[in-house]
Amino acid sequence: MCGIVGYVGEKSALDILLEGLTNLEYRGYDSAGIAVNVKGKVELYKAEGKLQNLKNITNENREHISQSVIGIGHIRWATHGAPTTANAHPHSCNCGRVAIVHNGIIENYKELRVKLEKQGCVFRSQTDTETVAHLVASKYAETNDLTEAVRLATKEIEGAYALAVIHQDVKNTIVATRRNAPLLVGIGENEYYVASDVPAIIKYTKKAMYLDDNQIVTLTPSSMKLIDTDNNELSQKYEELPWEPVALSKMGYKHFMLKEIHEQPDVVRNVLAGKLRAIDENIILKEVKLDKDTLKNLNRIQIVACGTSLHAAMVGKYLIEDLCDIAVDVEPSSEYIYRKTVGDKNTLVIGVSQSGETADTITAIRQAKARGSHILIVTNRPDSTMAREADSLIPVSAGIEVSVAATKSYIAQVISFYLLAIHIAEIKESANKSELETIKRELILLPQKLEKVLSHKEEIQLCAKKFANSKDFIFIARGINFPTALEGALKLKEISYINATGYTAGELKHGPIAMLDESMPVLSILMKGKVYDKILSNSEEAKARNARMIALTDSDDSKLNELFEVVIRLPEINETLSPVLAIVPLQLLAYYIAEFLGKDVDQPRNLAKSVTVE
Ligand code: G6P
Repeated sequence: MCGIVGYVGEKSALDILLEGLTNLEYRGYDSAGIAVNVKGKVELYKAEGKLQNLKNITNENREHISQSVIGIGHIRWATHGAPTTANAHPHSCNCGRVAIVHNGIIENYKELRVKLEKQGCVFRSQTDTETVAHLVASKYAETNDLTEAVRLATKEIEGAYALAVIHQDVKNTIVATRRNAPLLVGIGENEYYVASDVPAIIKYTKKAMYLDDNQIVTLTPSSMKLIDTDNNELSQKYEELPWEPVALSKMGYKHFMLKEIHEQPDVVRNVLAGKLRAIDENIILKEVKLDKDTLKNLNRIQIVACGTSLHAAMVGKYLIEDLCDIAVDVEPSSEYIYRKTVGDKNTLVIGVSQSGETADTITAIRQAKARGSHILIVTNRPDSTMAREADSLIPVSAGIEVSVAATKSYIAQVISFYLLAIHIAEIKESANKSELETIKRELILLPQKLEKVLSHKEEIQLCAKKFANSKDFIFIARGINFPTALEGALKLKEISYINATGYTAGELKHGPIAMLDESMPVLSILMKGKVYDKILSNSEEAKARNARMIALTDSDDSKLNELFEVVIRLPEINETLSPVLAIVPLQLLAYYIAEFLGKDVDQPRNLAKSVTVE
């Protein structure tokens, strides 16, 4: 979490920093700040709350601040210390000559703080980051060399960090370094940029260098020097950034989330393009490097992910076990990394991540890689840390997702799992050809069906109004739609702050049923297929306890209107494919409830889109 940006060159730094922070706002929005150097003096501008507050402050001093041709900026998702102005970055030292921005967590900050306080450092914040500012200042006092000061500081700090540092006495120089947090350097004409992520700098340059862990870069307008923490000079490897500058526009929609929900039919088309060419042709997944022998020897698959990606992974488990005859475990990355997991070179480990930067998932795949497992990454960011460390890759092509609540990236991940499961089944010959062809046929029809669901959104809007004042919500489903229930509940929690839980319908009677009364809405995901009748019975049980019943169904059975207060009807769909269709009304329901309640839909409180701390 948190985003950092920096600029050193010949242009005014202010707008570059603010624009960079705007495009990093998905990483946090608790507070923001910049440090510049005006007429030889380091100045800090910080504001708690949304970036707009910082923009208002800098606007008041625009002419003055614009004189600086160097600067660093930060957007914060609070870890240590409340989201106040005092805790906002950049942080400084006693003399105010150093300014530092940080993404990550300094784990030994308490010990360092005690030590530094004994040396006379006066702390002004509760953050872990401020220790690094004092530490760099004290190392600079010893060495008179900013790069050396940062290098020596990195020897003492533990944890994860991407850091950018400036010093009043070292003219037009940024020193930046990283360990387990993303950082790249953008290269321009007589200018350099640093940033946590591509969108912060893509408007200015397409030439970049991704820093590896424990590398330290020193940037001036005309030079870049790269060293490791043992002071060895390293060669610089440039890359062409794969992105075009994008105007992040809502295209007339009130929120990015609504726009992204509406993009889903096209996202499905994009994900399928070039991979599913015809029903009677095999799936083409060029970047998946699993041959017949490897697949034959696989003893299991483990999928690691967090949040919405975890729910996509759960759909993947149903598909792979069903079509490929391989046992699949799905686990939150944050659990996987703190226990002994069993696996070896015959275990395929799949990491699923929209951002490709989620710290827990990165750690999980690194652990699995170290024990020899093949790592396959399913991500929306082919330039991310996970993608770069993968043995195999499925880029999910959802396009940039701005809303913190994931929607189109979820659908793209789920579609990628259909392609992967069919691909493995085709290589292993583990599934009936006609069954695979049916799924492929349905996949091709999906975009049209999604468009049909979206064209009936007024119905869901009405349902949202009806239930918006509920304090709790229960979603029930069985089989391949159990993840849909979890994801529907997560969407509602994330953006409306209503307590919502997804249950397998069969578990309702083992505890949750005790909560049911006339104030509790129960939404049944009732898609035709193997478990339809079972869920219908479970819904009857809930109704008998006076719960307010909502059905989401592709059945045209008119009797459902007797059991359910609201029936949301979907186009008929093959049960295996139904999670793709069923999630859309739930995304819309969450959206309209949050909008009705006046919540900040695109930037819900306490959340960030990319979670780069464990
Ligand atoms: C955060 C976001 C979620 C997301 C999760 C995993 O918690 O708020 O929307 O699902 O991270 O992110 P990833 O980028 O790994 O999919």
